[in-house]
Amino acid sequence: MTNLITESLPSPEPPHPELSSTVERSRLEAQRRSDLVAERVRTEPASLCVLTGDRPTGPLHLGHLFGSLGNRVRLQQAGVPTMIIIADYQVITDRAGTDRIAEHVRDIVCDQLAVGIDPAKSTMFTHSAIPELNQLLLPFLSLISIAELQRNPTVKAEAAAAGISAISGLLLTYPVHQAADILGVGGTVVPVGLDQLPHLEVTRLLVRRFTEAYGPCFTAPEALLSEAPVVLGIDGTKMSKSRGNAIELRHTADETAALIRRARTDSDRRITYDPQRRPEVSNLVLITSLCTGEEPRAIAERIGDGGAGALKQLTIAAVNEHLAPIRARRRELAAVGDDVLQVVRDGNVVARARATATLDRVTEAMGMIY
Ligand code: TRP
Repeated sequence: MTNLITESLPSPEPPHPELSSTVERSRLEAQRRSDLVAERVRTEPASLCVLTGDRPTGPLHLGHLFGSLGNRVRLQQAGVPTMIIIADYQVITDRAGTDRIAEHVRDIVCDQLAVGIDPAKSTMFTHSAIPELNQLLLPFLSLISIAELQRNPTVKAEAAAAGISAISGLLLTYPVHQAADILGVGGTVVPVGLDQLPHLEVTRLLVRRFTEAYGPCFTAPEALLSEAPVVLGIDGTKMSKSRGNAIELRHTADETAALIRRARTDSDRRITYDPQRRPEVSNLVLITSLCTGEEPRAIAERIGDGGAGALKQLTIAAVNEHLAPIRARRRELAAVGDDVLQVVRDGNVVARARATATLDRVTEAMGMIY
């Protein structure tokens, strides 16, 4: 994928002598471009359009809150028009079947509204309601080779994480349908973690190739790199819905306390903040810090020899206090029942109008007007 990243650079600056690896250069370049986007968020928010979203595989958790959701709300508040996809078709990229999907969609809608997504400013929509996005797949698929798709490191990592040995056509083409989502509704800024950059590079590649083949139809989207730290689950591995290690937004205060009390720590009584050598203890310190705003090192020092018990007490109190207003709103929203989905029904109308306009431009560019 590195070649794609390099290929997309406008005019690469001469490499710093110490940066021997192309990967490191690409990372720095991606950061430089992302900084430019962040600047535009400040100076001309209304000229941008953020496209972001999640797969509805379960309720959202603290990792989402401090990773993507917080950022999403900030972009919305900064005045950037925001499109949020609930990528229901992507659920079956790495699992069989759509078990409880309607429930998961409702959970995600409640989670997002509870953290502050405002339907007056942001558009929430479901992939399955926008068939025009899928029609964009056909020209896009013609512009990329199977070898290029097979080289995508993110798809490989996702397959490995899901324990999949036989990669389906849908999983292999993941970056292509993601490109259709982004370009279909006119997303120009995509908030991503570094690991998701290869996906976005495929979108940018498809824009270049489409433009060469049929003329200009799309603006290549830019990545806005996340600065959020990675929050681990209570077992010290990445917080994830499927691993049973997640502190979910919808959990009660008691459920949260029980989960954190079970969190793995280590045998050193003195609490320090050292994510490299003491990931589990440091993760609890980090979560506390993200909830209270106090520096992780200051928190660790304050607990000192108090041990893991004292740390957990502090983390439980911090998380429950931080989540209390979110949870109160979430309970109200959940009590509304299926009517909460009206937000998505409205969003689908908006997203579909945008995707239809895009598809009209595409078929016209391709000469398919009869
Ligand atoms: N793949 C994303 C996830 O797993 C969801 C998603 C679908 C998305 N299409 C997108 C994100 C386009 C950004 C841009 O959560």
